[in-house]
Amino acid sequence: MKGLVLSGGTGSRLRPITYTSAKQLVPIANKPILFYGLESLARAGVVEVAVVVGDTAPEVIAALGDGSAFGLKLTYLHQSAPLGLAHCVRIAAEYLGDDDFVMYLGDNFILNGVEQFIQSFRERDASVAAQILLAKVSDPQRFGVAVLDESGRVTKLIEKPKSPPSDLALVGVYLFDKSIHAAVNAIDPSSRGELEITDALDWLLDRGANVRSAIVEGYWKDLGEPEALLDGNRLALDGVEPSLKGTVDSASRVEGRVSIDEGAAIVNSLVRGPAIIGAGTRVVDSFIGPYTSVGPGCEILQSEIEYSIVLADSHVHDIVRLEGSILGKGVRVTRRKVRPSASRLVIGDNSVVEIHRS
Ligand code: TTP
Repeated sequence: MKGLVLSGGTGSRLRPITYTSAKQLVPIANKPILFYGLESLARAGVVEVAVVVGDTAPEVIAALGDGSAFGLKLTYLHQSAPLGLAHCVRIAAEYLGDDDFVMYLGDNFILNGVEQFIQSFRERDASVAAQILLAKVSDPQRFGVAVLDESGRVTKLIEKPKSPPSDLALVGVYLFDKSIHAAVNAIDPSSRGELEITDALDWLLDRGANVRSAIVEGYWKDLGEPEALLDGNRLALDGVEPSLKGTVDSASRVEGRVSIDEGAAIVNSLVRGPAIIGAGTRVVDSFIGPYTSVGPGCEILQSEIEYSIVLADSHVHDIVRLEGSILGKGVRVTRRKVRPSASRLVIGDNSVVEIHRS
């Protein structure tokens, strides 16, 4: 079994963060989203993995290297433009050969991992050509949706249906045998100009292929949008091992599940978990509330932050308070003390600022 991990794409829904960072490398609980998936593949015994990369290739390659840190052997496949999930299979054809493979969308976070799902495909009946992972969702029109017969066999797949025939959405993990290659070569681009993996699967179904499904156990989310990212961060923090590698002075309190990394200093502050404070970060006269990840090299002074993600090297001074916020790398948020009493913003394209009326 080989792996095909998709780490190209545009990440437009997560701008401005994705102007300067690959979507798959945005951290939740201070660890890039993509690492959770790669670790799960390694635990499932998948060793040879191809990573599809696009415009953000240099950053992805720098972060993953040869894969040995994960126990994987990584190969990079360059995709000229995000032409669709089935296009990714096309460009990986030579690498995959006749092997079974797991295709994993690099922005998906599956709390319980994919080990069981992969194992069940290894143990499948020889007639099964593909296996898809499904989750019940309240807004199926935003997803690829599956229709099952009474026995649970997949009969139809529809990409983003206007009137969804079921509430079973495709989760970003697929298992295929070699028959998918003929399918991705046979289909044409959809109306949005992409080669859709749902069309390839439908092509197989039309030819009588046996496509099996499994329902995802536990939490799953495609972390492509800000709200989803904050929610994924919440869940990831619930799994963080409490640890104290930095320092906490006697005037501070650390409550609950909190990880404080090397060189971080908590001074006259309250950190209420689940929370993580990155290496070298200083938290002074502040409150870090539940479900907050503060990256490395940050400075949080006289501020209160809850249910938020603060990326590396950011400074928050004298702000009471931030909630449900995502701050990119090297961001500065401070209180202005000079007249006129107005907010002053220097922010990138597609940023979102909601100033609380005081
Ligand atoms: P999407 O979230 O569907 O696409 P996107 O990354 O372009 O995001 P947005 O809609 O916000 O612009 O992609 C799912 C995953 O697959 C994601 O990790 C990117 C990856 N991908 C590729 O590597 N190549 C592709 O051609 C496509 C469409 C996606």
